[in-house]
Amino acid sequence: MRVFDLFNISMNIVMKGTGSAVPKRRVTNEELGRMVDTSDEWIASRTGIRARHIAVEETTTSLAVEAAEKALDDADVKAEEIDLIIASTVTPDQFLPNLACEVQAAIGAKNAAAFDVNAACSGFLFALNTAAMYLKGSGAKTALIVGAETLSKIVDWKDRSTCVLFGDGAGAAVIRAEELDVCSGILSMVQGSDGTRGGALKCGGRPLNNPFVTQQAAQAYVSMDGQEVYRFAVRTVPKVIRQAADEAGMSLDEIDLFLLHQANVRIIEAAAKQLSQPMEKFPVNLPEYGNLSAASVPVLLDYVRKQGRIQSGSRLVLAGFGAGMTWSGAVVVW
Ligand code: COA
Repeated sequence: MRVFDLFNISMNIVMKGTGSAVPKRRVTNEELGRMVDTSDEWIASRTGIRARHIAVEETTTSLAVEAAEKALDDADVKAEEIDLIIASTVTPDQFLPNLACEVQAAIGAKNAAAFDVNAACSGFLFALNTAAMYLKGSGAKTALIVGAETLSKIVDWKDRSTCVLFGDGAGAAVIRAEELDVCSGILSMVQGSDGTRGGALKCGGRPLNNPFVTQQAAQAYVSMDGQEVYRFAVRTVPKVIRQAADEAGMSLDEIDLFLLHQANVRIIEAAAKQLSQPMEKFPVNLPEYGNLSAASVPVLLDYVRKQGRIQSGSRLVLAGFGAGMTWSGAVVVW
């Protein structure tokens, strides 16, 4: 059992390592064009997506475990050193036990407290922020954050307006509380929600099987008002980024890379334009992966690190938005 003491306020919360995993099966836009009335031209021009990876043998748990193991390896941290695991997903393989406990058991992190959060596509950042606050406010030193999804099981494969957008995958990061003289780690965290707009992006739960209730089964697949979500994202993402940079005492020009939730390249381009920042500072991997919801930001973070674009001292903005509606951002100095 972990006892949390409130004494750690002066600690820096630094990122120590990242990892990611995607399923083997790659599905191109052309292949989707043989399943629903769509085309590579429509999907690529409206979203920037060209392919996605779809779980056939993999599960949310297996992808989460693979990403977590890679992140531990990258951070050179042993599983027993982890005090806290927070997993974010909207597509767990089952209701109970939660995904974080499944990861804990698989990697042998026997000293960790483990729980899940659901903030849809903002989920990884909500989990990161929650973990950072735990580490700031307690004796816990090391946390593992996981974002993992198999969205393929909640999209309606007959609905061309949604099935072309999403993919499956997992990303993870290890963070640690360290006493440092230099200004490093998570410098600011911003998050918010507007439940009154929740109808724009929904997915129902399991049909009820309660003999005392007579009720229609809920919509079990993702449904979305794409234009409403688009307008929300274009309005919200630049605000989140500005606020996170302000809180960190940095100008946007001082930021090296903006790692945004990968939903639509047009949303990212609109954010870059509103912030007067060049697109080169906004890496994208959605042409290959599509929208990975809670896995989107950590998979991108790992992807960009593997490209060698993040070094010690790199100044990053991480930002996400999603169902709820929810939004979140952070400034991180690597
Ligand atoms: N292939 C071909 N045509 C398609 C299609 C597809 N996959 N999906 C929708 N269409 C059609 C529509 O039926 C519509 O046809 P109509 O004009 O005959 O009625 C037409 O294309 C335009 O649809 P619309 O929904 O207006 O397109 P859009 O320009 O708004 O683009 C999205 C749709 C989903 C790409 C865009 O709204 C978007 O990206 N929104 C944000 C979604 C998002 O980020 N979600 C995740 C949040 S975490």
